Amino acid sequence: MIAEIQDLLNDQIKYEANASMQYMSMASWAENTGFSGVANFFYAQSEEERAHMIKLVKFVNERGGKAVIPQLDEPSSDFDSLNTLFETFLKSEMFVTEQIHKIIYVCLENKNYNVHNFMQWYVTEQLEEESVARDLLDKLNIIGNDKTGHYLFDRDIASITAAE
Ligand code: FEO
Repeated sequence: MIAEIQDLLNDQIKYEANASMQYMSMASWAENTGFSGVANFFYAQSEEERAHMIKLVKFVNERGGKAVIPQLDEPSSDFDSLNTLFETFLKSEMFVTEQIHKIIYVCLENKNYNVHNFMQWYVTEQLEEESVARDLLDKLNIIGNDKTGHYLFDRDIASITAAE
């Protein structure tokens, strides 16, 4: 693969790893704030992002490239509400989607259909994750500042996401 595509894939390794640590930080915040359902949700999201990162590392190496294990950005850790938490989630997913689309664009420009094909899995994954993030944020916006609503949201988040 050409250097430009390898560099973009290595950037993506960092973005997935950053997302994994960001969601770990959000899980930890939720745990400390008494939202154990939300904490479980973000611990699981963090694991997923780690898996996305590893999939890229292996792909780059198996294709004769060299995966770079990056230094990560410091994740945000100070959230003032569940809304802020889920806004951060959606923003993070939208950023990742944008970067994936950038890779797809460069693959098409350079007629690299192997990487293009590999990245389709990420396109589908992003559609799902963005949709989950939007739905949960919509629910929180309806709930507003209602404490009972937050309690029920936290209690039901596993079934809310499983049903979607
Ligand atoms: Fe793997 Fe949701 O970014």
